[in-house]
Amino acid sequence: MIRARIIAASLAAATLIAAPVLAQGGPIEQRKAMMKSNGGDTKAGADMLKGVTPYDAAKAKAIFTNMHDVASKFGGLFPANSKTGGKTEAAPAIWEKPAEFKAAVAKFEADTGAAMAADLSTKEAFGAQFGKVTANCRSCHESFRVKLD
Ligand code: HEC
Repeated sequence: MIRARIIAASLAAATLIAAPVLAQGGPIEQRKAMMKSNGGDTKAGADMLKGVTPYDAAKAKAIFTNMHDVASKFGGLFPANSKTGGKTEAAPAIWEKPAEFKAAVAKFEADTGAAMAADLSTKEAFGAQFGKVTANCRSCHESFRVKLD
């Protein structure tokens, strides 16, 4: 009984500690963090293709899996109150053309999903998938990202 109360008390304390951390990570910070992860994964993939690092099929799959995870969450991080602030580079087009933005996110999700499931046993096979996946970066940024300097 006492033990149960101690566990309950420590769980409550953990919740109190966790809450402010979650509140700090608003949608702008979250979407930037996801895109930074995309950037890191793209660099890791390009390095393998260039031979800077040795080709590793498990790493290749992890790159697409991470991106697919980003794709599945990214579209939900654009509430109306996040159009400005936090040095966001989100373009007004996201809110002006929501169906087109949704389609761009869905395409990224579909292409990363296909890449995850594809044969990645060779660097050449990975390169073909990587090309299709990273075409999404450029096309979405052209329409839906404004670069701040
Ligand atoms: C469906 C649209 C979409 C796709 C696909 C997409 N991005 Fe982005 N990206 C954005 C938007 C929108 C922003 C601006 C987010 C903000 O600042 O609020 C952004 C921002 C970024 C940033 C800057 C993050 C920062 O620190 O502020 C990087 C880096 C980036 N994207 C890399 C990538 C890479 C690499 C890919 C492909 C693997 C990719 N993105 C695919 C929409 C997309």
